[in-house]
Amino acid sequence: MTATRTAWQGPMARVDATGSAVAPGTIGAPGHAGHGDAGHADHARTGDAHRPETTVGTHTRGDVILDLQNISLSFGGVKALTDISFDVCEHEIRAIIGPNGAGKSSMLNVINGVYHPQQGRIVFRGQERRQMHPTAAARQGIARTFQNIALFKGMTVLDNIMTGRNTQFRTGVFAHALWWGPARAEEMQHRRRVEEVIDFLEIQAIRKTPVGRLPYGLQKRVELARALAAEPSMLLLDEPMAGMNVEEKQDMCRFILDVNQQFGTTIVLIEHDMGVVMDISDRVVVLDYGKKIGDGTPEEVKSNPDVIRAYLGTSH
Ligand SMILES: Nc1ncnc2c1ncn2[C@@H]1O[C@H](COP(=O)(O)OP(=O)(O)OP(=O)(O)O)[C@@H](O)[C@H]1O
Ligand SMILES: [Mg+2]
Repeated sequence: MTATRTAWQGPMARVDATGSAVAPGTIGAPGHAGHGDAGHADHARTGDAHRPETTVGTHTRGDVILDLQNISLSFGGVKALTDISFDVCEHEIRAIIGPNGAGKSSMLNVINGVYHPQQGRIVFRGQERRQMHPTAAARQGIARTFQNIALFKGMTVLDNIMTGRNTQFRTGVFAHALWWGPARAEEMQHRRRVEEVIDFLEIQAIRKTPVGRLPYGLQKRVELARALAAEPSMLLLDEPMAGMNVEEKQDMCRFILDVNQQFGTTIVLIEHDMGVVMDISDRVVVLDYGKKIGDGTPEEVKSNPDVIRAYLGTSH
């Protein structure tokens, strides 16, 4: 892949990325494959060095935009989340880590309104949310990718990415059916945006290919493209690098950093590869058996005895 990307035009101005290499993070997690061998150095970020002082695109970590307070969620007798509180600041990359079954995906599902916790408060951009539906979350600028790829396998890459624009449609179905006036102008605008995303993620060559024919790593990239097509201000990524080879992971890391740096998108990231998490996250929250056992910078989390214990005690 190339180092330079085509920036989105329009309201989201491009900011030059800076960032020098640091050694990958180390939590003694046997079996965390990929750690140390995925060439993390070239996607690493050093503290706040990746955040230019310039106000263009304002990439200094902003205010808290999502505040989760005392969230508890259970499914029948299974307690998926117990009394979890943490926040997410504008423009940051916030990782959620933890062993299998810790409650990470459930947490993302709470954030985007798929699950409604039995207890706790969710405050998004200063407003408390109650029983929010996922489409309402999407309208508020929250987009996501899934742990198991959720794309229409028989449809082309282009058409799949187009579905990411659904929440943006303004004109009615009737006007669209007639390909009429404002509907036509709107559709052209959507197509332009989708083409920009395709350029940004460097998937021009596969735009007409049915998704089902693509290798796994590219399908993951298409899923990211669909989420980006919605122009989210907050992007929720559930294991975007799972099952990828080293090169695919490097590419995905750079795309995630580019989205964050160039568009200021806030990113909440679930990831098992500890090297990646330590390299690209600003702050990390650690879950274990549905409880929060750590929260802080990668350095802080790495030296947290409870976190070390949880990881040494698991085998994934
Ligand atoms: N829809 C559901 N119905 C019943 N139980 C569920 C549901 N979703 C999650 N759970 C349970 O909640 C717990 C947390 O699951 P979750 O998928 O959030 O974990 P995770 O941290 O994402 O794990 P993994 O790393 O394996 O993806 C598990 O015990 C799981 O079985
Ligand atoms: Mg999960």
